[in-house]
Amino acid sequence: MGLGVVGGGVATTLIDQSLSISQKIGLPVNLKKILVRDLNKPRDSNVPPGLITTNPEDILADPSIQIVVEVIGGTEPAAQYLKDALSSGKHVVTANKEAMAKYGPELFDLARQNRVNLLFEASVGGGIPIVGSLMSQLLANDIQSIRGIINGTTNYILTQMADQHSETDFHQALAEAQQQGFAEADPTNDVEGFDAVYKLSILASLAFHQRVSPDDIYRQGITNLQPQDFRYAQELGYAIKSLAVVTLEQGDIRARVYPALVPVEHMLAKVDGVYNAVEVTGSLCGQVLFHGRGAGRGPTTSAVMGDLIDIGRRLHINQPPIPVIESGHTLRVQSIDDLETQYYIRLNIADQPGVLAQISKILGDRSISIASVLQKDTFPDEQKAELVITTHPARDASVQEAMRLVAELDVVNQVSNMLRIEG
Ligand SMILES: NC(=O)c1ccc[n+]([C@@H]2O[C@H](COP(=O)([O-])OP(=O)(O)OC[C@H]3O[C@@H](n4cnc5c(N)ncnc54)[C@H](OP(=O)(O)O)[C@@H]3O)[C@@H](O)[C@H]2O)c1
Repeated sequence: MGLGVVGGGVATTLIDQSLSISQKIGLPVNLKKILVRDLNKPRDSNVPPGLITTNPEDILADPSIQIVVEVIGGTEPAAQYLKDALSSGKHVVTANKEAMAKYGPELFDLARQNRVNLLFEASVGGGIPIVGSLMSQLLANDIQSIRGIINGTTNYILTQMADQHSETDFHQALAEAQQQGFAEADPTNDVEGFDAVYKLSILASLAFHQRVSPDDIYRQGITNLQPQDFRYAQELGYAIKSLAVVTLEQGDIRARVYPALVPVEHMLAKVDGVYNAVEVTGSLCGQVLFHGRGAGRGPTTSAVMGDLIDIGRRLHINQPPIPVIESGHTLRVQSIDDLETQYYIRLNIADQPGVLAQISKILGDRSISIASVLQKDTFPDEQKAELVITTHPARDASVQEAMRLVAELDVVNQVSNMLRIEG
C-alpha cells in the first residue's frame, strides 16, 4: 500500500531482487498488488502497470495475500487499512510512525488476536536498526535512557544554522532544506517536533514495555532559535541539537522533545546534517550508539525489507508471531515540571547597572544558582544589551516561573530564549 518514496523502493527491490530475497526467505515471494491514490501519476519505478490499483479491497479482501506493507503514511486511511489487514489475518509491515504512535495498542491487540506479525522498523530512524534492537537484542536490559536525534530535517536546519561562518536564520535554513528536498512544503510536523514525538513514543513504549503516548511527551520546536544562540552555545562549549529524550528516574518515566545544548565532546553533538543517531543506555550493555541515515528511499527500504524477510522466514518455518512484550505494570510518566537540569537563558536587557542583581535575586529566591554569565552584544544607541546566563541544575517549573517574573522586570526587554542543557 503506497508507491511513493518508500513504496517505490520496496517494489523495485521486490522485483529486481526477487530471486535473492526468495532465497533468504526460503519461499518464493510474489508482489501481488500495489495500492496508490492516482493511477495516472508518472512512476519512477519499474512496476508492471497491471499490479497497480486504487481499490484497497484488491489487497485487503484477497486471501492469497499474506503480507501487507503499508507505506502510505498519516492516520487516515492508512490506520484503517492497518486494522483491516490485521483483522483479516494478514501480517503487516509499516513505516508509519504516526499510526503506530497513536494507535499502537489497538494494532498490537489486533495482531495478537489474529496471530499475525506487526513489524515497524522503518517507523523510527530510517535505516538504523533501533526498533528491532529494542524488541529483541537489548531485551535483557533495564533501559535507563534513550537520547536521540531522530528527525533529519531539523538536524539539517540546525547544522546549517550552526555553521560558524553563516548568520543563517531559521527561515533561510528551512528554505534551503526545502530546496534540497530535506524538508516538506509544510514543515510543521518536523520543525514543531511532532514527528520526533511520534518516534519517541514508539521507542519509549518498547523500552519500558508499556504505552508512552505522544500526549505524555513534552514538545518544543526549533522555530525560536536565532543565529546568536548558536554563537553563544559554541562559546560556552555546546552544540544545539533537537533531542528526543526519555529517561527512567526513581521509577518514573520522563520524555521530551526539545532543542537542547549538548556538550561539544558528546557523541550526539557530532551528528550533523540529515543523519540520525540514538544512544541507548541499558543496565547490561551500558551505552550503545546507533548512527546512520534516518530517511530516504534506500535506508527506509532496507528497514521495510528486513521486516518483510523476517516475517517470510517465520512463515517458512511455521514460527508463531513475534510478541510485543508488555510489563503489566505501569510506571508513572512525569511532566517536565520536576525535571532537574541546567539551563541556558538569553535575555535582552537595559544596558544599565544593577540589572543582573535584580535577575539574580529572582533566580536565587527559587534556588536557581547561576553557573556563568556572558554579556556580549551591546547596542549602545538603543541602550540595550544581550545577557546569557547558564544555571546549575534546577527544577524546570522553578526556572519557568522565574522567567515569567524576569520578563516582568522594567529592566528586561525580553526573555529571548530558554533552552535546557543535556548530558
Ligand atoms: N520518505 C522517507 O524517507 C521515510 C522515512 C521513514 C519513514 N517514512 C514513512 O513511510 C511512509 C511513506 O512515506 P513516503 O515518503 O514514501 O510517502 P510518499 O512518497 O508521499 O508516498 C505515499 C504513497 O501513498 C499513496 N497514497 C497516499 N494516500 C493514499 C490513499 N488515500 N489511498 C491510497 N494510496 C495513497 C500515494 O499514492 P500516489 O503515488 O498515487 O500519490 C503514494 O504512492 C510514511 O509513513 C512515512 O512517514 C518515510
